[in-house]
Amino acid sequence: MLKDLPLGRVYQHIEPGPVTLLTTQATGKKPNVMTMSWHMMLDFEPPYIGCVVGAANHSFATLRRTGECVIAIPPADLAEVVTKIGNCSGRDTDKFAVFPLTPLPARHVAPPLVGECIVNLECKVRDTYMVNRYNMFVLECVKAWQNPNLAAAKTLHHQGYGRFTLDGEEIRIKSKMR
Ligand SMILES: Cc1cc2nc3c(=O)[nH]c(=O)nc-3n(C[C@H](O)[C@H](O)[C@H](O)COP(=O)(O)O)c2cc1C
Repeated sequence: MLKDLPLGRVYQHIEPGPVTLLTTQATGKKPNVMTMSWHMMLDFEPPYIGCVVGAANHSFATLRRTGECVIAIPPADLAEVVTKIGNCSGRDTDKFAVFPLTPLPARHVAPPLVGECIVNLECKVRDTYMVNRYNMFVLECVKAWQNPNLAAAKTLHHQGYGRFTLDGEEIRIKSKMR
């Protein structure tokens, strides 16, 4: 027998990608970082990514104003840090000073890369059409970096209230879909 699934818990099942860190930097200010797991691929190449950054977040205003961010994918062993980063605000916390993250200069955007992350994506906002209604930004990734030391690292997948799953076993199926 199937049971009701509360609509408020749908995201816990559909949310597919890894938990990420989003860095932003207002002109003349220190960089900020927030945790973000609501994102999706929109196109292959150049890579377009949709992401939801809540309007109440400090990052929202900066992203809207500057049109630039970095999406960084942390390894699972940063789970506690990633959770804490997503539970405080750059409004009153200098997160790069408080948390053990190394900001590294990006090539095409002002916000920093995160040295401890598996992958860093330098992104520019290309479409704000859905920001007012859904807080959804359409980003183009203009430069991507990977950390060879973390090639085997597991990613985190959010299921709500501090519950995460980690990347699991890899299987290979013959498929034409790239
Ligand atoms: C695991 C996790 C995932 C999160 N995903 C998102 C998200 O996709 N979008 C969002 O707006 N906030 C998300 N948050 C909440 C923000 O990270 C949080 O509101 C943060 O304090 C915002 O920081 P800021 O005020 O410095 O921008 C998430 C938090 C956690 C712990």
